Amino acid sequence: MTITALMPVYPRCDVRPVRGEGCYLIGERGERYLDFASGIAVNCLGHAHPHLTKAIADQAATLMHVSNLYGSPQGEAFAQRLVDNSFADTVFLTNSGAEAVECAIKTARRYHHANGNPQRHKLITFNNAFHGRTIGTISATNQDKLRDGFEPLLPGFAYAPFDDLDAALALIDDNTAGFLVEPIQGEGGIRPASQAFLQGLRDACDKHGLLLVLDEVQCGYGRTGTLFAHEQYGIKPDIVAAAKGIGGGFPLGACLATEEAAKGMVAGTHGSTYGGGPLACAAGQAVLDVMLEDGFFDSVKASGERLRAGLEQMIPNHDHLFDSVRGMGLMLGLKLKDTAVSRDFVAHCRDHHGLLLVAAGDNVVRILPPLVIEESHIAEAIEKLSDAARVYVPVSDD
Ligand SMILES: Cc1ncc(COP(=O)(O)O)c(C=O)c1O
Repeated sequence: MTITALMPVYPRCDVRPVRGEGCYLIGERGERYLDFASGIAVNCLGHAHPHLTKAIADQAATLMHVSNLYGSPQGEAFAQRLVDNSFADTVFLTNSGAEAVECAIKTARRYHHANGNPQRHKLITFNNAFHGRTIGTISATNQDKLRDGFEPLLPGFAYAPFDDLDAALALIDDNTAGFLVEPIQGEGGIRPASQAFLQGLRDACDKHGLLLVLDEVQCGYGRTGTLFAHEQYGIKPDIVAAAKGIGGGFPLGACLATEEAAKGMVAGTHGSTYGGGPLACAAGQAVLDVMLEDGFFDSVKASGERLRAGLEQMIPNHDHLFDSVRGMGLMLGLKLKDTAVSRDFVAHCRDHHGLLLVAAGDNVVRILPPLVIEESHIAEAIEKLSDAARVYVPVSDD
């Protein structure tokens, strides 16, 4: 038998973390890494944050799981806090981002069903989008690498170039339910939507009775310096999928909706054995305890500006390699020149400089540090990146 016990679907690297301390990960042999990947935008409070770990430990010792057959004081309190701090009136709790997007897709379809328009089932989504790995969420992207071999996929999606309002509007027809869009594409290469694009989608939704569904799994939850990224655009969505940072490392996701958008989601239409269990809610509450403290989002914005300035200052010294910086808050992307491949540069930083980053589409290096980084971590990351750029030999194609 040659297959590994863990199904070999991940191209795993040699880093084998066994412990986390704040903004650092420690490997099996005791080696330390500055973690500017945060489990791909998950560990928003860093590793082993005392408030989060205590909340989880206390809840585990009190009540870990109960069925959603029973009342959920923990879920009600957590959902209420999300409602109080967002556009939403109601929340479905999930275990992952893909499930949050699945719930968003179902909620959008049920809305039109409840309105007597079941033919309005099609969501317009965007090139290079990433919404997860379930059959529904791979159907919601047109990236071949995610879809190959899994056909037949779920019908009911149409794809437009990202940030191209006219192309998106041209796809609206009698079957359209709404738009599903990441305000800032993450896997697609840290591409923020323009103001005109998101506002244009909102206006089209209002004009045609469609729903604006945002995938904020990666860009939400404080990463851009507000609880949700759409707040920075000043637009109000109908449905939002959130996950990643929401549990600070504990598996948790949420589909948030307005009362109107959720009108079809009545008893019996959706469910999950684990979704919104007491342990997950304790983690979610602990993250919000920290994030909603006065000054937290200001400090994310300040750290984002400092990191961005550091990256921008560094670019001219290595302009054979670095092109530009993009993104918002602490969701930043370093676009590389064509002479280099982001995946290789990320491996170089990891293996030779102890700095963890994530590769993304469009030859971009994603920089997603914990939201609690301090000046010293930013300085250390810039120094490691500069050192890495100085000695990195781009892999040539020939
Ligand atoms: C924008 C976006 N949506 C959905 C997902 C899927 O989340 P999960 O891996 O938790 O299912 C991701 C994961 O990277 C994501 O970045």
